[in-house]
Amino acid sequence: QLTKVQELIDLRAQARLGGGQKRIDSQHKKGKYTARERIDMLLDKGSFEEFDMFVKHRCTNFGIDKETYLGDGVVTGSGTINGRLVYVFAQDFTVFGGSLSETLALKICKVMDHAMKMGAPCIGINDSGGARIQEGINALAGYAEIFQRNILASGVIPQISAIFGPCAGGAVYSPALTDFNIMAKGSSYMFLTGPKVVKTVTGEDVTQEQLGGASVHASKSGVAHFAVDTEEEGLELIRHLISFLPQNNMEEAPVVPCTDPIDRLEDSLNEIIPDNPNKPYDMYEVIGAIIDNGEFLEIHRDFARNIIVGFARFNGQSVGIVANQPKVLAGVLDSNASRKAGRFVRFCDAFNIPLVTLVDVPGFLPGTGQEYAGVILHGAKLLYAYGEATVPKVTVTLRKSYGGSHIVMSCKQLRGDLNYAWPSAEIAVMGADGAVEVLYSKEIKAVEDPEAQKAIAEEKKKEYNDLFCNPFNAAKYGYIEDVIEPRNTRFRIIRGLSQLATKKVTNPLKKHGNIPL
Ligand code: COA
Repeated sequence: QLTKVQELIDLRAQARLGGGQKRIDSQHKKGKYTARERIDMLLDKGSFEEFDMFVKHRCTNFGIDKETYLGDGVVTGSGTINGRLVYVFAQDFTVFGGSLSETLALKICKVMDHAMKMGAPCIGINDSGGARIQEGINALAGYAEIFQRNILASGVIPQISAIFGPCAGGAVYSPALTDFNIMAKGSSYMFLTGPKVVKTVTGEDVTQEQLGGASVHASKSGVAHFAVDTEEEGLELIRHLISFLPQNNMEEAPVVPCTDPIDRLEDSLNEIIPDNPNKPYDMYEVIGAIIDNGEFLEIHRDFARNIIVGFARFNGQSVGIVANQPKVLAGVLDSNASRKAGRFVRFCDAFNIPLVTLVDVPGFLPGTGQEYAGVILHGAKLLYAYGEATVPKVTVTLRKSYGGSHIVMSCKQLRGDLNYAWPSAEIAVMGADGAVEVLYSKEIKAVEDPEAQKAIAEEKKKEYNDLFCNPFNAAKYGYIEDVIEPRNTRFRIIRGLSQLATKKVTNPLKKHGNIPL
C-alpha cells in the first residue's frame, strides 16, 4: 500500500513539472510564469482542485507517442476567488508549447462544462503555439468544441480570458468569444496570421508587437479590454473584476457593505460644467465623485476614449457605468464608441447589473470615414442594446444631449426607468449654431449689412437657446423625471436604484433578436 501511495506522490510531482525543469527555466527566462504559478496567484490560497492531472495525449503521428507528459499541456480545475467558486484552465507552454491536442481540448471542455453545470465563472489563461501540428484535424475539432461551449456559455456565466503568451490563428476565437480579454504588454500577442504570412500576402512589413501586441489590441482594435504591465497585475485584475459580477445570469449582481455615506453631497459638481458650452470638463471627475469610495474598474480604457464604460458600486451594489467623455472628441459617438458601449450594456443586461448612464453628447461624428465604416450599424448596436436591456436603467443628462445621440444614450423611450437632468442640460435636436444655420440662413443672407446679419443670428440663437437648450422643455413632456442639483447626484442615483431593485420587465419571447452586426 505504501509503495502505491509513494507512486501516486511521484506521479503528481512529475505532472507538476509539465514539460520538465529546463522548459520551466526557459519560460521564466522569458519573464513568464508557468501555468501552475499563474493559477496559484489567481485563486485563493490552497483552494485549487486540479482535474485530469494524469491525462496524456493519444496521438501517434510523427512518432510523438514516444513523447508524452502528464496533464498534456493544460492545467485545469476549480478553486475560489474571495471564497466564490470559479473554474480555470491555464495552457502550459512547457508541454509542446501549450499547443492544442484532442486531449487538451477535452480537458478544457470538461472545466467549461462544470462551470456551466455549477453556474460559476470560467477563466482561461492562454499561452500556446496554436493547434498541435501533429494532431491535424483532431486539434481543429478540439478548438471547435471549445468555441461551441464559449457560445453556449455566453450570457450564462461570465467568461474571462488572459493572454500571457502567443495566441494565433484559430486560437484567437475562444478569447474573442469571451466577455473580457486581458493581455500582458510585451509578452503576448494575438493575430489570425503572423508577420511572415502578412509579408507574403500583402507585402506589409510588421512586427508581432505592431500586428497584435497588447497595446494595439487595447487601443486600436478593441480586441483586448485590458493591457497590463505584468502577469501579476493581470491576475489581480481578474480577481477585482470577478468581485463586481454575479456567478451566473440567474443571480443578482453582488452587494457589498458600503462605507461611503449615501447622501454625501459633492459641491464641486455644482460648478463642474463650464459656462462656455464648447469647453470640456473631465467626466472621470464626475464618476469619481458620485460612486462608492471613488472605486471605478474601467473597461476598454484606451479604446474609443470618447466614451467611458466600467464597473462601480452605489451603496455597495454593482452597477455598469456608461458615460460620454467631453474631453475626447467632445464626447461624440462614433463607430468604436458605439461598439464598445453596446457590448458593455449587453454584458450588464445579461448579468443583471443595473446601468447608470451619464450623458453629455453633441451627436455622432460626421464624415465619410465614419459612414463608410458603417457608423449607422454600429450606432444601432448601442441603441439596440439599451432598448433591449431590462435591468434597472438610470440616466443623468449633464449637459448636451442632441438629436440621434440623445435617443441612443438611454433616453426615456428606450425604457429608461429614471431619467434625471442637471440644470445645465440641453436636450434638443441640435445645438443653437446648427439650428439657426438650417432654419434662418436664407433670411440672414437676404440682409445686406453684416452687422445686421450677426444681430439677427444672435437673436435667433438666443430664442432657440431659451426654448430648447435647457432640461425643462424635456421635463415639460415627462421625458425626464426630475431636474436635480448636481451635488446631490450620488444620493439621487442610490435612491433611484433602490426603488428599481424589484424591477421586472421581460422582452417578447423569441429565438433571439437580430442585432445589427
Ligand atoms: N504544435 C506542436 N508543437 C508546437 C507547436 C505546435 N503548434 N507550437 C510550438 N510547439 C513546440 C515546439 O516544437 C517546441 O518544442 P520543444 O520544446 O520540444 O522544442 C515548443 O513547443 C516551444 O516552441 P518554440 O518554437 O521553441 O517556442 P518560441 O517561444 O520560440 O515560439 C511560437 C513560439 C508559438 C511562435 C512558435 O512555436 C510557433 O510558431 N508555433 C507554431 C504556430 C502555428 O502556426 N500554429 C498552428 C496554427 S493554429
